[in-house]
Amino acid sequence: MKAKLAAVAGLAAVLVAGVMVVCGVHAQSAPQTGEKKAEEQFKNIQVLKGVPADQIIPTMQFITASLGVECDFCHVQGAFEKDDKKPKQTARKMMEMMFAVNADNFDRHREVTCYTCHRGNSKPVGMPPVMEESAPPMNESAKPEAIKEGTGPSPDQLLEKYVKAVGGAAAVDKITSRVMKGEINFAGKSLPIDIYAKNPDQRVSFTHMPEGDSVTAFNGHEGWLGMPGRPGIREMHGGDIDGASIDADLQLPIHLKKMFTEMSVKETEKIDDHQTYVLIGQREGRPPIDLYFDQQSGLLVRMVRFGETALGQLPTQIDYADYRDSGGVKIPFRWTLARPGGRFTIQISQADANVPVDDAKFAKPAPAPDRPPKGN
Ligand code: HEC
Ligand code: HEC
Repeated sequence: MKAKLAAVAGLAAVLVAGVMVVCGVHAQSAPQTGEKKAEEQFKNIQVLKGVPADQIIPTMQFITASLGVECDFCHVQGAFEKDDKKPKQTARKMMEMMFAVNADNFDRHREVTCYTCHRGNSKPVGMPPVMEESAPPMNESAKPEAIKEGTGPSPDQLLEKYVKAVGGAAAVDKITSRVMKGEINFAGKSLPIDIYAKNPDQRVSFTHMPEGDSVTAFNGHEGWLGMPGRPGIREMHGGDIDGASIDADLQLPIHLKKMFTEMSVKETEKIDDHQTYVLIGQREGRPPIDLYFDQQSGLLVRMVRFGETALGQLPTQIDYADYRDSGGVKIPFRWTLARPGGRFTIQISQADANVPVDDAKFAKPAPAPDRPPKGN
């Protein structure tokens, strides 16, 4: 039973930043207004006062990713408000130190973060290492290269080429739904997955696990996650909702331009065999999005999104491949989603466009019952 739960939790962690499931944080399952401050929702916030309550869990994910630890490095199971562990108290001092370093040296810009020093270790390394064997091979292809001023394509040209490459605006506009079947691969496992998408911006995926279905859903404004053997659902927060709404958009190619307040193309980068142009789209009040377009085909081969936290940004990178026709529009039949906490690949074998999809598929179930205060 324990092993099973671990497998389920592992999947949750890669599907969405599902640490609430992994670590058993339940107090947050109350409806979010998005306006609440951290200290209003949580019991023992001393440093992160004034931070939106919604950002506390992502901020904790930023810390765990930066230090290469789990939640229990600092927290007692089931009592996150307690200060029983020394590293939690150290972490508070570190936050103060980080804010001071940036205030005193970088005009309050968040240049130094936990990751700047920690690099995935709880104890940062202060000495340069001796050289192991011979010099490591320089991986030139992975580095972005600046485009000479005035020689590259404009953002509009890239977006137009992309829309044309997938089949044209009219074809994209005709897509109202899509049903996909395939496999999800993560941590050496492979499981069948069904994905349903429908206008406007509704999407749900069912991963068929031996013990039942795990569900990741977005209904146009709310996102949630359901795990077999766990009652109720867990809500998506902040950057995850933002990302889910983008993934749910069946007409994304023709909506990209409207999403951005400002666009720029300043670099090229090689991704696998594709030489790409990197388009950076700025958004109103949200982190930017980086889009990598194949210079030859014009297709989107990578998207990088950033989730905002109180201490730094958390990236999500999605690589798109195996473009094939589905209802007159080319879509990626394979994509790999990678975050600091894990990665998975979905390979689609069948995609049917404009088929009826029951609205009930996107109906949100009741939230998980809160645990008794002293449970666990
Ligand atoms: C390196 C230490 C560290 C790690 C690792 C860490 N936290 Fe925290 N956590 C803190 C600190 C410090 C605070 C209090 C912040 C403050 O006082 O402003 C906190 C506060 C919290 C709170 C608010 C509790 C309350 O009611 O006051 C929650 C919930 C929480 N963390 C969840 C998590 C989860 C989930 C993880 C794993 C993803 C995690 N934390 C990982 C240091 C850590
Ligand atoms: C300027 C560099 C720097 C930054 C920025 C930084 N740390 Fe540290 N941190 C250190 C060093 C160095 C140590 C180790 C001190 C030691 O070995 O006693 C440390 C130790 C820690 C420890 C104790 C680890 C243990 O094994 O007990 C925690 C927890 C920690 N840092 C959390 C954080 C968090 C959270 C952030 C971001 C808010 C952060 N640090 C930012 C340099 C930094």
